[in-house]
Amino acid sequence: MKGNRHYFIIEGGPPLRGEILPGGAKNAILPMMAASVVAGAPLRIRNVPKLDDVDVFGEILRQLGGSVERENDTVTMDQFAAGACEVPYDLAKRLRASVLLLGPLLARYGVADIPIPGGCDIGDRPIDQHLKAFTMMGAACVKDHGKWHVTAPVLKGARIDFDMKTVTGTENVLIAACLARGETVINNAALEPEVVDLARCLKKMGARIEGEGTSTIHVEGVASLRGAEHTAMPDRIEAATLLIAGAMTGGDVTVQHIAPEYLESVLNKLEESGARVSSDGRGVRVIRREPVRSVTVATNPFPGFPTDVQAQFMAYMCLSDSVSTIEENIFENRFRHVAELRRLGADISVSGRVAVVKGVSELSGAPVTATDLRASASLVLAGLVADGETIVKDIEHLDRGYEKLEEKLNSLGASIRRLPEEDECEVIY
Ligand code: EPZ
Repeated sequence: MKGNRHYFIIEGGPPLRGEILPGGAKNAILPMMAASVVAGAPLRIRNVPKLDDVDVFGEILRQLGGSVERENDTVTMDQFAAGACEVPYDLAKRLRASVLLLGPLLARYGVADIPIPGGCDIGDRPIDQHLKAFTMMGAACVKDHGKWHVTAPVLKGARIDFDMKTVTGTENVLIAACLARGETVINNAALEPEVVDLARCLKKMGARIEGEGTSTIHVEGVASLRGAEHTAMPDRIEAATLLIAGAMTGGDVTVQHIAPEYLESVLNKLEESGARVSSDGRGVRVIRREPVRSVTVATNPFPGFPTDVQAQFMAYMCLSDSVSTIEENIFENRFRHVAELRRLGADISVSGRVAVVKGVSELSGAPVTATDLRASASLVLAGLVADGETIVKDIEHLDRGYEKLEEKLNSLGASIRRLPEEDECEVIY
């Protein structure tokens, strides 16, 4: 028995039809959980899906001495009694986003110990920009026995110039700057909606922030932050995944409560591919009845095409009428889904950061193995249209960032079964 590992059996089949509600945005919720460290009273976040990444982050907060309670989709964090400032290695290695605790711990205690990031599925993931920013704010960063020991007796407001757009780098500094002495100006800040949602939450806690959602964010430090209640924005990456599922299967899918401006670059590419996209007050709707036209995609920081949707869109382009190129400009190793899509009959060649996808008339079901969060989503989407049965193994990657994705897709007409993985030899394909 392999513990609680599971796999999917997916029957390729009918067009997906119907309406679906996405969960709360994982990449907005994780920085908010980090911000609970600097809240002077409990911080309550609503619309929190049951995700492994959220559970791991909650466990880290508990190991730092705080309390984390979940009631349905609401998570309440009280770090007031906490005291530890070292993020445990065994949990940090499972969750890159644990780096988001660096700024809050530094702001609260003047010291933070963060494991030096190891490699991860999609790339090296350095944190040099985070460390450079905190150094500008008066911190000393020392490598010590596999961790960054960062100290700042006084965190001072500073002018931070990021060398590249970094989402968690922006968020890390944004949180710390709320309690720094004086004003912080973050230049070349990330524009992602999740950064804006974090700023909304911090303002409810008493932070003084202007310019979130633009490249320059101003933060005026305050003496302390209070507790607050905040409802997380919907997950635009999950929404994109569900809309692509609708387009891929030639269906008619509406994703509710998602603002089209969160996904404009993806919606434009869906329209270019021959799908019809519309939005009303209820959400965004995609219908595809025409053949899939090939398009060119290049991932970029927001508002560009999101890297977190690259793998899913590649699965869709496997069915195009010609040749598509997909350029991955954010991470250096984010094509691990290519080898598995090839097992399903896709015709994809990769050279450096560019994948060339030649459309095929049909994909054929086969056993495949998930390698990372978004790659696993692309394999599930491919299974929806592949002829016959597709088995997707190691779906714990999927459960990190999607809550019960199979139930959402099945409610639209898919046929996906989740089964426990017995001993390797017992699962006959
Ligand atoms: C966030 O990761 C997201 N994670 C990622 O989502 C997302 O893919 C990524 O932003 C890009 O949008 C969370 O928000 C928790 P970055 P992050 O710092 O902040 C380089 C998912 O699937 N860089 O914006 O770690 C970096 O190597 C995850 O939900 C440095 O070189 O990404 C990358 O090439 C995966 N030095 C680029 O910048 C640094 O100090 C953008 O990375 C920081 C980043």
